[in-house]
Amino acid sequence: MTTSLTVHDTLPEDHFARTLHEDVRAGLTARPKSLPPKWFYDARGSELFTRITRLPEYYLTRAERQILRAHAPDIARHTRARTLIELGSGSSEKTRTLLDALIAGGTLRHYAPIDVSRDALTSAAESLMAAYPDLEVTATVADFDDQLPLPEGPGPRLVAFLGSTIGNFDPAQRAAFLGRLSAALTPTDAVLIGADLVKSPTTLVRAYDDAQGVTAEFNKNLLRVLNRELDADFEPGAFDHHAVWNEGAERVEMYLRARYGHTVKLPVLDLKVTFAQGESLRTELSTKFRRPRLAADLNRASLTPTHWWTDPQNRFTLLLARPTEPTG
Ligand code: SAH
Ligand code: AVI
Repeated sequence: MTTSLTVHDTLPEDHFARTLHEDVRAGLTARPKSLPPKWFYDARGSELFTRITRLPEYYLTRAERQILRAHAPDIARHTRARTLIELGSGSSEKTRTLLDALIAGGTLRHYAPIDVSRDALTSAAESLMAAYPDLEVTATVADFDDQLPLPEGPGPRLVAFLGSTIGNFDPAQRAAFLGRLSAALTPTDAVLIGADLVKSPTTLVRAYDDAQGVTAEFNKNLLRVLNRELDADFEPGAFDHHAVWNEGAERVEMYLRARYGHTVKLPVLDLKVTFAQGESLRTELSTKFRRPRLAADLNRASLTPTHWWTDPQNRFTLLLARPTEPTG
């Protein structure tokens, strides 16, 4: 078989402009100000995220890779997946371990990465095509905040959501997402979720405030995206990157804090936004999990976890879940 790459765009042409406008107007006129993290990931933001995954402080990617290396053959055995769908696939780097195991198990035919970032998706899919000449690759640009268009593909299907991206939802968004995911599955499908675990606040905050300042650049990239897309005049130097551990909600929160009072113009939205000195714009939350909380969230969405794996230092978990069988 020859390799084939198809890039699908499931969204209406104006989806990104419309939702960006809505998100920015709502988020910058709210108190406190906040923006959803999906706007980080233009080409530069996706590249900065890849640099983050290689930082000494950002243990998440290494821990998840360790688990995948140790347990990908188990995942292949338990799922026998013919189609691997990946949500928020980014560079698909770690996914190769999973692809290798599913191919070695003799079942995989089709890989379907889905991401909001067309740039990340296309370059990942192109290099995968070269590395896996017998695999059918269907890449889809989609926004999983909005809809969950799971490609059909031959079953059983395994839906992977790696990297602890599930932590970037607040509890209501997480419940809505898991509900949509569960509703899109057939009884033979399975889901594989990577989630970061609660640990020392010092380790956690360091992972989001690295010594080289790459995470600060990633955070400020959001302002560059708004400047380009909305003709705004944010001055990245007018903000400090700030990461804090929210003990009550068990999440790291990332902020941009105004160094001095100033006003930003967003002419495309006909909007002026004033920042007081020290005022913070929340740009991301990264929830850290304990197993019972995650299991309860999954159960509420009619998903039953069947396997939990962790790295030797217990920093990160990878779990396999299936649609809950109806009773009675
Ligand atoms: N799974 C990879 C990348 C994680 S970074 C890893 O584990 O390293 C988060 C990824 O999710 C980015 O590639 C980003 O573009 C994507 N993403 C964020 N919000 C999204 C959304 N609403 N819909 C689809 N993809 C999204
Ligand atoms: C993609 N997501 C899971 C990352 C995280 O850890 O919340 C994004 C990130 N933000 C700062 N560093 C990495």
